[in-house]
Amino acid sequence: MSDTEHPGSSERNQAHESAAGHEGRPCSCAGKSGEPDNPDRRKFLIRVGIGLNIAAGALVGIPVLGYLFSAFRKKEERSWISLGPADQFEAGKIRLASYRNPGAKGWDGQSADIPCWVRRDDSGEFQVFAINCTHLGCPVRWFEESGLFLCPCHGGAYYQDGARAAGPPPRGLYQYEHRLRNGELLVMGGRIPTLSQSV
Ligand code: FES
Repeated sequence: MSDTEHPGSSERNQAHESAAGHEGRPCSCAGKSGEPDNPDRRKFLIRVGIGLNIAAGALVGIPVLGYLFSAFRKKEERSWISLGPADQFEAGKIRLASYRNPGAKGWDGQSADIPCWVRRDDSGEFQVFAINCTHLGCPVRWFEESGLFLCPCHGGAYYQDGARAAGPPPRGLYQYEHRLRNGELLVMGGRIPTLSQSV
């Protein structure tokens, strides 16, 4: 037995040579399975392994790169958008309006229609509120009877001028920049409001 030979290995080799039918001749078998060592098969398996690794890397890497580079892409497309003729909004009333998100893509469908609340006070001045509650963004509703905007999610409430009245919202409703042009009410739309960035 050589220095590196393990006890019992000689008996195992003899048993293998006997089973493989090549006693006394050099053994060309490889591995524990005793199957012939096929270089083409090995190369094929290596290539398959490399291909699978590349595919797995692409699956993980492409979304990560997309996320990282999204910071450099144009984030929003804000522009003046008409809510329609100003005289459709009655003085002393609050009503729902909507506009098409200027950054909408063809496949966005109705999800690109952004609702907002338009208030025209008794003197004819406008306020346009984002529909999103300033707590966690649920859509608020106007209740004329109580004179409040109410949020169904956690009971947030706002006065008719958008100021916070009660509940968890940390501030009043987000207000759109707006203007009148040629008898139309326009809002600066295209941004989703957050606490750090209003509409
Ligand atoms: S989301 Fe409106 S109160 Fe919480």
